[in-house]
Amino acid sequence: MMQGKVVILTGASEGIGRALAQQLSGQGAKLVIAARDQARLTSLAEALPGEALVCPCDVAKASQCQSVIDAALAHFGRIDVLICNAGMTMWSRFDALQQSDVLQRLMQVNYLGAVFMTQAALPALKQSRGHLVAVASVAGLTGVPERSGYAASKHAVVGFFESLRIELLGSGVDVTQLCPDFVLTETHRRAIGADGQPLGDSPMQEGKIMTAQKCAVLMHRAIERRQRLWLGSWRARLGRWVKLLAPGWIDRITARAITQRH
Ligand SMILES: NC(=O)c1ccc[n+]([C@@H]2O[C@H](COP(=O)([O-])OP(=O)(O)OC[C@H]3O[C@@H](n4cnc5c(N)ncnc54)[C@H](OP(=O)(O)O)[C@@H]3O)[C@@H](O)[C@H]2O)c1
Repeated sequence: MMQGKVVILTGASEGIGRALAQQLSGQGAKLVIAARDQARLTSLAEALPGEALVCPCDVAKASQCQSVIDAALAHFGRIDVLICNAGMTMWSRFDALQQSDVLQRLMQVNYLGAVFMTQAALPALKQSRGHLVAVASVAGLTGVPERSGYAASKHAVVGFFESLRIELLGSGVDVTQLCPDFVLTETHRRAIGADGQPLGDSPMQEGKIMTAQKCAVLMHRAIERRQRLWLGSWRARLGRWVKLLAPGWIDRITARAITQRH
């Protein structure tokens, strides 16, 4: 069903986005791939089985998001799916943070980046009765220690797209929110630490978490079904219900999950 669809995918140069580009291109989608690293985008485009337009962009800048949409429309003439996947994370207790602008940057990239892309793409998506896809996170639905700013930005993403879905009722545009649990990608090495710098090394026990390829296959299925919400693990699905009855217990399980990843 992806055959011939024009899909804009942000954060395509690494991790989940890169794996999703491979997955969707293999199913016949025409891709517009966006991220800041042009060289990585170009090497990805060359390796993809289908057509892909490379659009370097910093999603935190509204004008650059508009340029991606303009380039996509100029090249393909339509947009069927927008996947807001670009993102970054942190790894520090809030009271240990030495840089105050970390939380601001997380909001700009994770939340406003998705908002800017959506604002630019929405007229074309209404014309095609298309599909908006937000890559949020399990951290968009519950608190996570050492990720306060990240969880806040993902809660903002979830709140924004939940609201937009209601505004778009009857327009033919569907909204899907994808909430992965831990996935093996560059994000853990790139996470901003207490000193405001990327950690460099991943603090995760990487053997135990889902691969980006597996995540991309599951996300693709949820996108095809135009699913309202996809949760990336059984513990996330179960935890959502248990939290209603025993929120303190879920807090302790979450704290333990983060401690065990160190
Ligand atoms: N991995 C996980 O455990 C996990 C769990 C839940 C949710 N997620 C979410 O999944 C999405 C993908 O994350 P990932 O794990 O694949 O991370 P990743 O490997 O670090 O990839 C992040 C992607 O976002 C792009 N990006 C970052 N800042 C950008 C900016 N300002 N403008 C444009 N592109 C930007 C990066 O490309 P450039 O550096 O080239 O710009 C890269 O392509 C994120 O939204 C993340 O929050 C990840």
